[in-house]
Amino acid sequence: MRFLVTAGPTREHLDPVRFLTNRSTGKMGFAVAAAAVAAGHEVVLVSGPVSLPTPEGVERVDIVSARDLLAAVEERLPESDVLVMTAAVADWRPKATSATKLKKGTMNPVLELEPNPDILRTIAPLKGDRLFIGFAAETGDPVPEARRKLAAKGLDLVVANDVSLPDSGFAVDTNRVTFVTPRNLSFLPLLKKTEVAVRIVAWAEANARREGEGRIS
Ligand code: CTP
Repeated sequence: MRFLVTAGPTREHLDPVRFLTNRSTGKMGFAVAAAAVAAGHEVVLVSGPVSLPTPEGVERVDIVSARDLLAAVEERLPESDVLVMTAAVADWRPKATSATKLKKGTMNPVLELEPNPDILRTIAPLKGDRLFIGFAAETGDPVPEARRKLAAKGLDLVVANDVSLPDSGFAVDTNRVTFVTPRNLSFLPLLKKTEVAVRIVAWAEANARREGEGRIS
């Protein structure tokens, strides 16, 4: 199969030296890319700014902003069978971006923002038979929000986790996730992100194989 994986944060620049971003390090997405290649799949990895080496055998496309990410996903989606959206997309960007460094003395103390596109909602009409897998990183019980996002974004699987737990979420090597599908809930134990990635690839393989026969979960 051909996997399109997005990873890491986006950066929304205010000027050449300042930007809005989030705590994503890209570990989960890079682990999915590595697991998919190890299982014999083709992988394109679209990554925001992170300091991780590209897994061997993976084609990497670097992006900065949410709008760059949308353009890259739109370009590579037609040649993909599975989309895994681990990227932590900034929902907002500064309304104005300066090409030169803003000076303290002239800067407006109130930052005006405008919404970024929701990538999954924008590309939903292009889904066809592809599997779309999203993530829901929440503080507190992630299942209700994961269910909402599954329906709102037309996903086949949402990998949900509670990022307020010390062993899950940002910048740690482990994750305690729940697989939420339209018909099932599956609570996985605390696992290394590399092992969560293997489970995600296995889920995609199991569900894609039943193309035309209905999905198993
Ligand atoms: N996502 C996306 N485009 C965005 C924001 C998020 O495609 N602009 C994707 C993420 O990659 C993830 C899923 O949507 O797979 C859920 O992301 P999340 O940030 O949890 O959802 P939001 O829609 O931003 O919802 P909220 O801020 O209300 O939690």
